[in-house]
Amino acid sequence: MKIGLLNGGGDCPGLNAVTHGVVGAATRLGWEVIGFKEGFEGLLSPVNCKTLKRSKTEGILKLGGTILGTSNRGRFSSKVGEGGVRKIPSEIMNEAIGNLRELGVEALVCAGGDGTLTTAMQFMEEGFPVVGVPKTIDNDLGATAMTFGFDSATQTVVDALDRLQTTAESHKRVMILEVMGRHAGWIALYGGIGGGASAILIPEIPFHYQKVAEALLDREARGFASSLVVVAEGACPAGEGKVYEETGGAGENRLGGVGESVAKKLGELTGKETRCTTLGHLQRGGSPTSFDRVLATRFGVKAVNLIEEKRFGRMVSYQQYHVGSVSIEKAVKKLNLVDPEGEIVRAAKSVGISFGDE
Ligand code: F6P
Repeated sequence: MKIGLLNGGGDCPGLNAVTHGVVGAATRLGWEVIGFKEGFEGLLSPVNCKTLKRSKTEGILKLGGTILGTSNRGRFSSKVGEGGVRKIPSEIMNEAIGNLRELGVEALVCAGGDGTLTTAMQFMEEGFPVVGVPKTIDNDLGATAMTFGFDSATQTVVDALDRLQTTAESHKRVMILEVMGRHAGWIALYGGIGGGASAILIPEIPFHYQKVAEALLDREARGFASSLVVVAEGACPAGEGKVYEETGGAGENRLGGVGESVAKKLGELTGKETRCTTLGHLQRGGSPTSFDRVLATRFGVKAVNLIEEKRFGRMVSYQQYHVGSVSIEKAVKKLNLVDPEGEIVRAAKSVGISFGDE
């Protein structure tokens, strides 16, 4: 059998480990794996695709980024603006499917987030078999308890907070760290708890500046002159919208800037010196953690198993320590959001972390 593999959307630590898993499992079955470059775009220029040999993918599971390249803009973007979805034009779909058939590719593994999986669904609808592998540092995909990349991104946040803490203490400052998290605040939540933040601001819990300021002043009254505040890029004050760096253009609008607004406002309300650091794409770069390497490898192997069993239209899914699968359709319908009343938020509040809501 000949199968195709591509990565779509923003990159994420662990993508190469998925490739390692797919190639390893497929090679054992005697199959050939064709890697397509730069996401779905690669299907339109098949001259750039290549056979991924086991000998050539040896050792890549440790590498950050993706040897295949990826794209979260362009002709196959199914996500536009803020939460908008568009159909990929039929002439583009026909060309891509025609190229796949000409190459003799019988099924396609698509590793990506909700945008990539929405596009993958369209391939299924138009008669081309696909299986999905969930990927996103944001951990916001429904129907899987966790995506690979999230653990690595969280570790980067914790490392940054550990560094910010020492300089915060030296200057008795409030340090704000803006992290990724478009719809879901998982990175801010896990990173903030693990890195000892005093306040965590996430998209799921609209915050009040006054409440955050009170929490910081209360800390000061208890003898802690410095504090760390983690803000997800998609967080917003109650009654206000998200802060964008750029709107319009192909693909989703670019978030960014809420950290600076929080720093300014908290400075005014507390009278303390504040500084903002935006962690940005440092969260997406670098080597995957051991957890992500193992999860991504298992995901890649499971994708091949699904093709072997002819269970197309399925997405690999991690549930209760087990790698299984769900329908892609179900997976893209529901985002995995932080429950504001859930156990993790309650645990954070119990150790004194403010979410700016009470
Ligand atoms: O992968 C998702 C994400 O990390 C979002 O949190 C963020 O808004 C986006 O990617 C940034 O993507 P880009 O690479 O286009 O700047």
